[in-house]
Amino acid sequence: MAKKESQKDPQEIETTGHEWDGIEELNTPMPRWWLWMFYGCILWAIIYAILMPSIPFLNSYFKGTLGYSDRAAVLEDVEAMHADRAVYASKLSGANLEDIQADPELFRYAMAAGKSAFGDNCATCHGSGAQGFKGYPNLNDDIWIWGGTFEDIRETLTVGIRAAHDDSRFGLMQAYGTDELLTKDQISDAAHFVLSLSGRDDDAIASLRGSEIFRDNCASCHGDTGIGDKMQGAPNLTDEDWLYGDTLEDVYQSIYGGRQGVMPNWNERLSPETITALAVYVHALGGGQASAPAEPGTPNDP
Ligand code: HEC
Ligand code: HEC
Repeated sequence: MAKKESQKDPQEIETTGHEWDGIEELNTPMPRWWLWMFYGCILWAIIYAILMPSIPFLNSYFKGTLGYSDRAAVLEDVEAMHADRAVYASKLSGANLEDIQADPELFRYAMAAGKSAFGDNCATCHGSGAQGFKGYPNLNDDIWIWGGTFEDIRETLTVGIRAAHDDSRFGLMQAYGTDELLTKDQISDAAHFVLSLSGRDDDAIASLRGSEIFRDNCASCHGDTGIGDKMQGAPNLTDEDWLYGDTLEDVYQSIYGGRQGVMPNWNERLSPETITALAVYVHALGGGQASAPAEPGTPNDP
């Protein structure tokens, strides 16, 4: 193509009449295809400007004969989304787990809403993966202080633990040292006994002394065998899971200074449907239990 044009005799082509140092300016017309595209674009612009919102005026704008508006379209989408959510939310608020699981759409919505609410409200204390920290329980495992059924979890979230709610979950782990209920030696013996419950102690004599102290002071909450009590939030002391640590020093501190883990009641900050969604999410994290809520005296046994 380029070769063909260069073979044309420059004399045959019209010039503009301009000439510098013997170099003439040729008047080559625009290619046809380019011109048609150019005219097409102008035509398209005119039609578009008539149909769609286009020309700005001082206080408004020309709305176009089709009456289309981006803002209205977005508002419509948002309203549709709110309507969808309202349907899910009203279905969620008092629902039980079976109803939610029976409706895959609703379950998916609850899991998504629960996950995002967890990131916003819970991750600061329980960790973004709900893995927990010292004093803040791991929510992924099947070990529950207050019960791991869906209803238990929803109740825990609603009323909190040692929180401002009138029906808050409450269990007292007294400060046996600070409040001078036991001597340091007795506390040390009790700590040895507690550790022996999960095979962590080798001071048999201290353990034996501790067993009596435990029976007299601790068994009412933690159970004769140390297995715990969900109704009082007393942890199982025989398992591998420790909220406040499993060294002699940690356990001594738990008994000496007492432990009063606090979790806020969420009923004032979150809607019932968000709390339900959170309970669905936490229940599904791995350790959710299927049975009915804990009865008084239920062993704290995973
Ligand atoms: C201010 C810190 C804090 C925040 C925020 C928090 N928690 Fe907790 N949570 C705790 C503590 C501390 C405990 C343990 C209380 C105890 O010692 O019994 C706990 C216990 C729990 C339990 C009971 C676990 C069991 O074994 O029975 C659940 C379930 C729970 N939290 C879920 C949540 C969810 C869901 C959120 C977000 C809405 C949340 N937590 C936000 C501190 C917090
Ligand atoms: C009135 C009920 C009650 C009595 C009595 C009681 N505890 Fe506790 N204990 C609890 C509660 C509730 C917790 C959990 C506190 C928390 O979650 O913050 C706890 C926590 C503990 C822990 C921490 C467990 C962990 O996982 O880190 C140890 C250890 C413990 N108790 C030992 C004892 C010993 C030893 C005695 C007797 C000297 C005793 N408790 C008496 C209710 C009681």
